[in-house]
Parts: sequence; structure tokens; C-alpha cells
Amino acid sequence: MTEEYLKHEYDVVVIGAGGAGLRAAIEAARSGAKTAIITKSLLGKAHTVMAEGGCAAALQNADPRDGWKVHFHDTMKGSKWLADWRMAEYHAKEAPDRVRELEQWGAVFDRTPKQLINQRNFGGHTFPRLAHVGDSTGLEIIRTLQERGIHEGIDIFMEYTVRHLLKEGDRVTGCVAYTRVDGEFHAFSAKSVILATGGITRCWSVCSGSWEYTGDGHALAMWAGAELRDMEFIQFHPTGMVWPPSVRGILVTEGVRGEGGRLTNSEGERFMFDYVPEMFKGDHAETIEESDKWVEEVVSGKLATVRRPPELLTRDVVAKAIKAEVGAGRGSEHGGAYLDISHRGPEAIKKKLPSMYHQFMELAGVDITKDKMEVGPTAHYVMGGILVNAETQESTVPGLYACGEAASGLHGANRLGGNSLSDLITFGKRAGEFASKRSKDLAQPSIDDAQVQTAIEEMIQPLNKEGGENPGVIYDEMREMMQNKVGIIRTKDELEEALVELNDFKKRALASFPGTSRRYNSGWHQALDLINMADVSIACALAALTREESRGGHTREDMPTPEDEYWGKTLNIIWMEEGEVKIRQEPVEEMRDDLKDAIKEVKTMIAERAEEQAGGGK
Ligand code: FUM
Repeated sequence: MTEEYLKHEYDVVVIGAGGAGLRAAIEAARSGAKTAIITKSLLGKAHTVMAEGGCAAALQNADPRDGWKVHFHDTMKGSKWLADWRMAEYHAKEAPDRVRELEQWGAVFDRTPKQLINQRNFGGHTFPRLAHVGDSTGLEIIRTLQERGIHEGIDIFMEYTVRHLLKEGDRVTGCVAYTRVDGEFHAFSAKSVILATGGITRCWSVCSGSWEYTGDGHALAMWAGAELRDMEFIQFHPTGMVWPPSVRGILVTEGVRGEGGRLTNSEGERFMFDYVPEMFKGDHAETIEESDKWVEEVVSGKLATVRRPPELLTRDVVAKAIKAEVGAGRGSEHGGAYLDISHRGPEAIKKKLPSMYHQFMELAGVDITKDKMEVGPTAHYVMGGILVNAETQESTVPGLYACGEAASGLHGANRLGGNSLSDLITFGKRAGEFASKRSKDLAQPSIDDAQVQTAIEEMIQPLNKEGGENPGVIYDEMREMMQNKVGIIRTKDELEEALVELNDFKKRALASFPGTSRRYNSGWHQALDLINMADVSIACALAALTREESRGGHTREDMPTPEDEYWGKTLNIIWMEEGEVKIRQEPVEEMRDDLKDAIKEVKTMIAERAEEQAGGGK
């Protein structure tokens, strides 16, 4: 029996309405393409808002010593040298213009005394670089892009979930979606499709993302034959809420540490001083006095020393340190660490971190102007994703583009905080620009009814059973398993077990029964989400098992040190063949000479500054 569906035609279809999707759609529409955004959720409800503390761009407003070369260096170093250096170069050079453009479009950034866009410190950034709006930067960026998008004549399809990409030969030519409210089917013909679906962190039970982040774009790309990279690298943000249990995982912005927040264990020790890795020695304060001097300089608006407090080490380092303290029995009351900002005083806290103040007051009954917060790692971001061309953002499948968290390359083994908002505006623009440029030479693809019918059949298969397991049970169990076996610290044995269990979870997901209704049936949606979550989780576990070392957001207890000779120069590439996830290794391409020179220049500058400061100068 054939199912009915509605047809739509566009030049460019963008799947996802977070910052990357909105920025891509604005660019496509501005260059004359008939553009649609399809979003699983409501417009404005995106993980972009969880990038609270700021958007990294070398504007040089807070510190004139900054510049694109320093941002490039910091991104490459933070990535443990695995980032795609072309993307890191575009990003460092273009992010300032993208931020100024947001300002022109109405984003109300915090200001310096000279009325320039203010910038704050974040981990791994040599200078204060994060343009911010208190601690709601992502929210303001989404608001600005939404308002701008409305004036570009973009069509928006809200609460539509895309389950299938249409293809003609090798080329992606559209997609098929169902509506979450009433289970109608829609087929979209598109000359170019952009995946901007965000991340995958709902695959872990403690995460900062909400229900949407089930790896839809990662899975759609794999199912359509595209390649992914870096799937072993998951960012566990060091500071999520740990108490009460109902709010566990909700983000506590790195902005707290950027404003001078101190991490302590149950014995009151500033434990981060004990966790400075070799590669970061020299850039970080070695004593509490030195660290406090930096805070004092920042607070008083002076140019701060380049040796930052160890609380501002990169996220991978801080998250693992908190886990180690808890493991050693020095954790906070509910199994995390203490984070204290009360020394900044109520006025500064309420001005700089108003959302954090309200979040803790309302959700945990803690007044952060007086008391310590309890924080612990939370799955926040996936560095891995769809392999794209650095310039155009096209994937390895023609006609399919990706940007934002769904794409990969910019962050390598670890992303610096603040580099996601700048990523999505930089590469969202590029994806929209190139997708629309390409679509100008193409005829409108026709919709292949046979492909649509097969896609619909797959979508309704969970409803056509006589009974089966509730998908909610599988969802909870699978996320818990990922938390325990593919979490911050991994072992070969656990990863092998995880792979076996994930294949079993996938079988259970395919056999699950959410009832028979297509009208707002969240069990049905979950049954379908589970299939992509299983495939994406398999990709992570397989890549983690294959990478026999520890680097950035991938730590193997059985192989705790980085192995630079091979793995420091090698990427894991993932794809799918006949329903199976496959993996191979590829060497990292050698960096261009002028960029190597830029890195050397920055290293020398940092060493000289650190030395000067050690001698008491500036
Ligand atoms: O901590 C934060 O505000 C998060 C920022 C980010 O992930 O870029």
C-alpha cells in the first residue's frame, strides 16, 4: 500500500535551526536561493543557547596583543594538533567579521569602557577573546539570527523530523520528513541540502543537551554514504550541575572560571595546580598568588599576564581532573567538585553571570554570591562529525553540506570553549554561500516516489507491530551504558563490550513498539531516534576502540599517554556499508609552511611574555 505525502521544492534545504542552520539559511537566501529550514523542534530552541559564556574571535578589544595567528595557534594546540588547519585558519581570520556582522544585525554584546564589544577569558585562549552577552551569549545570537532570517524570506518547517535523504545517483537531491504533531509525511526536492542538526550528546545519560541531540545529521549522512571523522572525541564539559539529581548535567558556564572562579576539592585544595599537563606548563600560573594576581588584573581591567589560572586549562584536562579527584575520594558532597565565585562579590556576579545566579538559586537553592556551587563533567559536544571540505563545507557526497556541530574538522581532539559559536557563524555562512552557489547550475531534482515510499515504510514500521518493548526503556538503558563504557575514561574491554551491547540495543530498537498512533506519539519518535543513536554510538565506540592512545576528548585508561608518532598524525574515518559501521585511518595533511611559521611566532611571543612577567614586568 502506498502512503500519501506532500511535496515541496527548494534550491537549498537546511536541516536544523540552531545558530549554524540559521546562519547558513540566511546566506543561502541572501544569495537568491529559495531556502527552507526544517527543524525537529521549535525555532529558537537550540543547543546554541548552551554556549553561554561567549563567542571566540580575535577582535583585539580586550587585549591588543591578540590576533588571528594567536587564535589559530590556540585552536590547533587545544585540538592537540588534530584540527583541520585550513578550517582553523578560515575560522581565526573570519570570526571577527562574523561577530561584527552580528552586532550590525542587532546583537547586544557587553561593552568595554570604550564602548567596544567586551571579551572575556576562557580555557585555552591566550588572551580574553570571548565576545559575550552576560552568560546568555548563544541565546542572543539565536535571537539575532532569527530576527535577521525572518527578513530574508526563509520558509520554516517546525516540528518536522527528517529521516531520509533522497539521492539521484551519487548526489543528494532532497529529503523525507514526518511531522511530529500528526505524523504526516513530506518529501522535499532540493538542489543542495545542508545538515546543521547539532550534536549527539543525548547518547550519554549525563549531558547538557536537551531531547533533540540524538545525532540525526550524523546518522543521515552515514546512511547516505558520507564519511565522518574524529568520532572518538567527545567533549565532557567540566562543569555541569551535579545536584539535585533532576538537573544533573545542566551547564555551568566556563564563564564562571573566566571571571575568576576557583575549583576546590572536599579538602579545600585548589587541585587544578596538580593537573597541568606538560604541553601547557609555562602558560599557566604555578602558585595561588600568581593565579590571584591574574584575577586581580582582569578585574581591574589591566592587561593580564599570559599565565592563566589552572582552572582555565582546556576542558578535557579540567574534566578529567575533577573525575580523578572524585575517584580519589576528594569529591564534593554529591560527587563533583566545588566551584566558587563568591570572592567577586554580588554586584559583579549578578552583572556578569546573571543566568548562573538564577539557575543555582532556582534549581538548587544555592546563592552563588555567598556559597560554592557543586559541579561535575557533563557530555556537552562532539568534536567528530561529517567530514567536509574546509572551504565549501560540502561532505564527501555531492549536494550534501554540513556545518556547526554536525560537521567536523575545526576542533580535532578537543574544542576550546567559545569556538563553537564562532564555528557556526563562520562555517554556517560558508555552507550557505557554497550550497546556494552550486544550486544555481542545477535543475530542480524530481522526487523519486519509490525512495519516498521505502523511507515512509521504514518510518512506520515501529507502529505496525502487535507488541514489543517500550522504546523509553531501551533509551534509558542505552544512555546509561554509554555513560559507563564510552564515557570520559575508556578501556579496551569496556569498549568491546559496548560495541556488542550497542548492536543488541539496535536490534531491540528495531523491534520496539511505541503503540500504533501517529498523532503526537513521542514513543514513536523515540523508537526512530534510537536507531540513529545506536548507529552514531557504534561509530564513537569503534573509533574509541581503534585509537590506542589518549588525546583530548578521548582517554584510554589502558593507554593513558598520547602517542604522537602515529596517532598524533592520524585520523579515524568512519562510514557505513550495508548497514555496518566501518573504519579506516588516514594521515593528517602536513600544515602549510606559512602557518607553521605563524605557530612558531606565537609560541615565541608567549614564552617571552611569560618570562617578562616572571621577572615582574609586563
Ligand atoms: O561554558 C560555556 O559557556 C560553553 C561554551 C561553549 O561550549 O562554547
